[in-house]
Amino acid sequence: MSDKNIRNEKMEAIVSLAKRRGFVYQGSDVYGGLSGTWDYGPLGVTLKRNIMCLWWKMFVEERDDMYGVDAAILMNQKVWIASGHATGFNDPMVECNNCQGRFVADTVENNKCPTCGKEDTLSGPVQFNMMFKTHVGPVEDESSISFLRPETAQGIFTNYKNVIDSFHPDMPFGIGQQGKAFRNEISPRDFIFRTREFEQMEIEYFVDPAKWEESFEMWRKLVWKWCESIGLSADSIHELEVPEEDRAHYSKRTIDFEYDYPIGRQELLGLAYRTDFDLGNIQREAGKNMEYNVKGTNKKFIPHVIEPSFGVERALMAVLSSAYAEDAVNGEKRVFLKLPEHLAPVKFAISPLLKNKVELVSKAREVYKTLKSKYGAVMWDDNGNIGKRYRRQDEIGTPKCVTIDFQTLEDETVTVRNRDTTEQKRIAINEL
Ligand code: GAP
Repeated sequence: MSDKNIRNEKMEAIVSLAKRRGFVYQGSDVYGGLSGTWDYGPLGVTLKRNIMCLWWKMFVEERDDMYGVDAAILMNQKVWIASGHATGFNDPMVECNNCQGRFVADTVENNKCPTCGKEDTLSGPVQFNMMFKTHVGPVEDESSISFLRPETAQGIFTNYKNVIDSFHPDMPFGIGQQGKAFRNEISPRDFIFRTREFEQMEIEYFVDPAKWEESFEMWRKLVWKWCESIGLSADSIHELEVPEEDRAHYSKRTIDFEYDYPIGRQELLGLAYRTDFDLGNIQREAGKNMEYNVKGTNKKFIPHVIEPSFGVERALMAVLSSAYAEDAVNGEKRVFLKLPEHLAPVKFAISPLLKNKVELVSKAREVYKTLKSKYGAVMWDDNGNIGKRYRRQDEIGTPKCVTIDFQTLEDETVTVRNRDTTEQKRIAINEL
């Protein structure tokens, strides 16, 4: 495995399954990889989309107080100066003068280099800015500098006034965005947990400053509901009240929601109270009025912001970790993904019992077409014997395998095999 930092057996099993079955591949694998980047294969991209669509449906589509945007990744450099990222989005880094390895300062123990193991070879910490810098246009000078966004949030703040002018929402209201974010992490690690390119799903929820606590509590409950909807058990999620010294520069209160990953308890997502930090900065730096005028009154204020911020890869890794299961069937070890049905990339696998019997194959094709037009995510699988097909489908988390056999030709019923129980039942085709 190209990720040298995978530290545990269950994690190794998940990473290996993810590669073998087409969920997640190392980025640029064919050229030896590019550290901190991962590619999604045919099943991974569907699983990821299912998670993102569920989020969008739950937090944008189904709510009256939410609006969606999709802002450009490249933004005017002034955005990152005003937001404090240009100067403050840093990790303290130390360098080993023996092997030249570079590490996040607070991950190093006993002044010992994590790579070469030498003691007292580490430099003092220097601040390392994690934004990827680039130039926009053909001239590479100070004025053309831009950054790949390190959070999607700023694309929401910069569109706050546009959304108000187009939709005149009542307060409180929120804007949601999903998309790529980039951070030049000093030590990307643990599969897709800490990467240099990832996706976020973020909400900036604009509130009357006097009422921020109510909205914070509302989002706290909604975060729990979200975790449940992606199949994570309540006892695997833990709230961590982040102390002031560890909070991001813009936050007056943060709760990290941590998940018990196979690599240990780690941050899944965050809920922050960003005050008027960002809109206040925009008002000052861009010289544009960011005040909200409460309808029918003279009351005006710069809204405060509650920000639930979700990482797609962290959610996907939690979903895979919670779904990964092993048992024994007929004395043989079986690996399966107990994915919630609504997230499973394939809902049904359709197989003819024998692939060399024309009448079975043509009936199976008919069932396949019917289910495919109804559910979309249906797979044709006639490779190997039926046992091998079940194993393969178990490993990708397909909830139901449908087999067309000779009895189907007589009574229009099929065998439906349940992934979790391995139980098989005869069901009429029109009841699928
Ligand atoms: N806008 C607020 C913000 O970006 P953050 O805690 O830095 O806050 C939010 O990031 C979420 O983004 C994290 O909880 C995590 O899920 C995800 N995330 C952050 N850095 C990541 C990385 N390097 N790799 C994968 N996911 C990451």
